[in-house]
Amino acid sequence: MNETPIPAAPTLIVRTSTDADVEAMLAIYSHYIHRGIGDYEPEPLDEDDIKRRRKNMLNKRLPHVAAELDGVVVGYAYAVPFRKRPAYRYAVKHSIYVHPDHLSAGIGRQLMQFLIDACAAAGYRQMIGYIDAANERSLRLHESFGFARAGYLPAIGYKFGRWTDSVLVIRPLGEGSSTPPAPLPKKTKAKAPAAAAGGTGTEDGVAPVAS
Ligand SMILES: CC(C)(COP(=O)(O)OP(=O)(O)OC[C@H]1O[C@@H](n2cnc3c(N)ncnc32)[C@H](O)[C@@H]1OP(=O)(O)O)[C@@H](O)C(=O)NCCC(=O)NCCS
Repeated sequence: MNETPIPAAPTLIVRTSTDADVEAMLAIYSHYIHRGIGDYEPEPLDEDDIKRRRKNMLNKRLPHVAAELDGVVVGYAYAVPFRKRPAYRYAVKHSIYVHPDHLSAGIGRQLMQFLIDACAAAGYRQMIGYIDAANERSLRLHESFGFARAGYLPAIGYKFGRWTDSVLVIRPLGEGSSTPPAPLPKKTKAKAPAAAAGGTGTEDGVAPVAS
């Protein structure tokens, strides 16, 4: 009797990004930038820009992660400090980008969960997002992860010949503001951790930290 092989279910892995992911991440990012979604970049980003940003974040124990579907990068996400001033050192802001061919498949949700867990584990206490007010998908995603709307910034952006509004959303991480924070580890100049050097990285979203 002939047996029809059952195709294996696609496997999605969310992991710390590597330099090898940068080309795919840049392609995803460029897609959205050219449609006015995401941050405005004064100059076109190139791979070295993204590689440098990746390393900076991982050196600060901030997650920079890729979603890989059957070996292909279909999304990425990262967190950066909310502000440079030390008073705000426990607050991060984040971005998530999913490949346009793979929307509404749960990838954004997995990237968000990974970011939240990694930032909480690294000792950060508040997570902030600025979302274009017209970006219904992103607003819904954030709402479903418990982000509260903390502000509305009218005409705060100007992209592609029009003013854009942003919604500020915030969510506590870990114990939030209910306890004082633990000191954050000093940022490291990672010599040769796997993730920062373009190796396999760790699965916990936080680059290995040189002692
Ligand atoms: C916003 C974005 C990250 C969501 O990723 P995604 O993989 O499509 O989202 P998911 O499939 O994981 O869905 C997560 C939630 O998003 C919302 N969502 C997803 N598809 C949606 C749609 N078509 N319409 C409205 N809401 C939608 C839902 O709340 C959904 O939760 P649910 O499935 O429990 O209802 C993705 O659309 C994207 O990359 N957009 C462009 C870049 C961007 O705007 N990034 C956000 C800036 S922080």
